[in-house]
Amino acid sequence: MTEAELRDELRTLLMAGHESTASAIAWAFYWIHQLPEVKQKLLEELDALGPEPDPSAIAKLPYLSAVCSETLRLYPVFWFTFARILKAPLTIMGYEFEPGTFLLPCVYLTHHRPDLYPEPKRFKPERFLERQFSPYEYLPFGGGNRRCLGYAFALFEMKLVLAAVLSQMNLSLTNTRPVRPVRRGVVFTPSGGVEMVITGVR
Ligand code: HEM
Repeated sequence: MTEAELRDELRTLLMAGHESTASAIAWAFYWIHQLPEVKQKLLEELDALGPEPDPSAIAKLPYLSAVCSETLRLYPVFWFTFARILKAPLTIMGYEFEPGTFLLPCVYLTHHRPDLYPEPKRFKPERFLERQFSPYEYLPFGGGNRRCLGYAFALFEMKLVLAAVLSQMNLSLTNTRPVRPVRRGVVFTPSGGVEMVITGVR
């Protein structure tokens, strides 16, 4: 690799790969510890795998997957996808757009439509167990041929980090104040971070 290629690779990992997944994991820890019934179900699922489970078995856990999906639905780390500039005319739901139009799909607004996600402000992983959402309804990683390059890696990382930490230690939030999303650079992260303490070893 040339120096420039190496720099670009590192910047991609840092900008697109680190901050995004770290923020998603912070949100997941917040919701799991804010809602005891979610934590309970997750621990039951994780404990059923036994000691030192295979990483691919962790990645397939239905409830853990639903928790990760719901985390990225409620406060998607990227509220918008990257912009698309039309090369040809396009009609979307009766709206006609000319070539050159700048379109910026909003992930957040889509994920908060009550017709798709009843009680959209509530964290309910079950919605992802009850039905499958289309790529037009659920798009935390964008869509089409410019969809996030690291989506599989990010989900794998989220699940393994959550499973490793939750199955080994008991944690609790230092306070029960609701945490709001704030913009930091290009990502939306928990305001003030998610402060937690270790209360014991499992
Ligand atoms: C939870 C974590 C992540 C989220 C929510 C996320 C989300 C996104 C979104 C919404 C886009 C724009 C896609 C579009 O416009 O259709 C994107 C693009 C991208 N992401 Fe991620 N991402 C995450 C993690 C990662 C990781 C771990 C990597 C690399 C290791 C990565 C690399 C990229 C790259 C290279 C692009 C640009 C793709 C292109 O333009 O063709 N992302 N991501």
